Amino acid sequence: MRKLGSLLVTGGAGFIGSNFIRGLLDDPAFDGRLVNLDLLTYAGNLESLADVEARFGGRRYFFERADIRDADRLAGIFKEYDIDTVVHFAAESHVDRSIAGPLEFINTNILGTFTLLETARNHWKDRQDTLFHHISTDEVYGSLGPTGLFTETTAYDPRSPYSASKASSDHLVMAYHHTYGLPVTLSNCSNNYGPYQFPEKLIPLIILNILDKKPLPVYGDGRNVRDWIYVEDHNAAVRLILQRGADGQRYNVGGESERENIWIVHTLCDLVAQQRGTSAEENRALITHVKDRPGHDRRYAIDCSKIKRDLGWRQTTTFEEGLAATVRWYLSNEGWISRVKSGAYRDWLQRNYDHR
Ligand code: NAD
Ligand code: TYD
Repeated sequence: MRKLGSLLVTGGAGFIGSNFIRGLLDDPAFDGRLVNLDLLTYAGNLESLADVEARFGGRRYFFERADIRDADRLAGIFKEYDIDTVVHFAAESHVDRSIAGPLEFINTNILGTFTLLETARNHWKDRQDTLFHHISTDEVYGSLGPTGLFTETTAYDPRSPYSASKASSDHLVMAYHHTYGLPVTLSNCSNNYGPYQFPEKLIPLIILNILDKKPLPVYGDGRNVRDWIYVEDHNAAVRLILQRGADGQRYNVGGESERENIWIVHTLCDLVAQQRGTSAEENRALITHVKDRPGHDRRYAIDCSKIKRDLGWRQTTTFEEGLAATVRWYLSNEGWISRVKSGAYRDWLQRNYDHR
């Protein structure tokens, strides 16, 4: 089992990263320290970690506002904290934004990952007690028809600027392993959902639009399929890979919960109605089919038998349980939601953190 001493988590103020940091620091098996490096773009929110800062800040948890493209800052941070493990979440992550403006995706996801890899290589030199774990997506494999699953050997076939930029970063990670011997692992995960997800992605967007009685936009016929995983299950897989993953290996991680988008929207209408004591029919009346996303991938589905077999990982939350818990979280965290939506979060940041 690999010992985790000084971790650098990039993108730790985002959705999956903030849940990862909380989960790791709460894990009694982890006694190291963790540096959260995040640029705090529109998607990064330190308020998601206010409890972590209060419990661990300055002792085992440190925050550095920095850009993964800034080689000098990265080198300084690696040196200051003597980083031995990288968990690389930072990215531009939303497909629709990548269609509207791909440049930021190329810059952050490709150049940013390259800069981080170079920093790790220069800092670690030939050390082998280190690990660079790269977080990626199933979207790099392209789009499936009605049957079949993505395996770790499925050929890459990315079809959006987002997935193409992630595919490129995955190739760079593997190239650094093969060329320079950098110790790496990589995970390709399906669609995550859960607390602290920025309300531009399907599930939080639909919950919040129901609460605001706004139209619920369903792209095209609503029959596109995604494989959904609760964020805690994804992060448990990442923790296992950090401890026991084999050098140079990639692992598919999925929820084995395929659903059509329209099923999800209907279910959210029902769950909000149940939890609020309001009318599911009125919620469903808000559903509005809108123009389809250009190049909209039809179906994603993951074969995650390798991580189950090799590392003993299992999902612990069913989609029904996870969706109900997620709705409950959004209904009881109105302060977080209104600040994320209003931009008042920026003011909170100014008051609570010095900008470097
Ligand atoms: P997110 O958009 O919620 O968070 C991204 C974080 O990265 C933000 O905190 C942002 O401030 C930070 N960031 C962006 N550019 C940066 C830069 N140049 N330097 C430093 N920090 C920067 O994303 P997420 O949904 O938490 O996804 C995290 C990772 O997981 C991404 O790599 C994504 O591709 C991958 N992934 C996401 C999903 C999903 O369903 N959300 C599924 C599979 C894989
Ligand atoms: P999204 O949450 O953006 O994740 P991804 O595109 O990475 O899979 O979208 C999930 C699915 O929901 C995808 O098929 C697009 C669809 N969708 C809608 O129908 N309406 C929306 O408003 C959004 C954001 C997504």
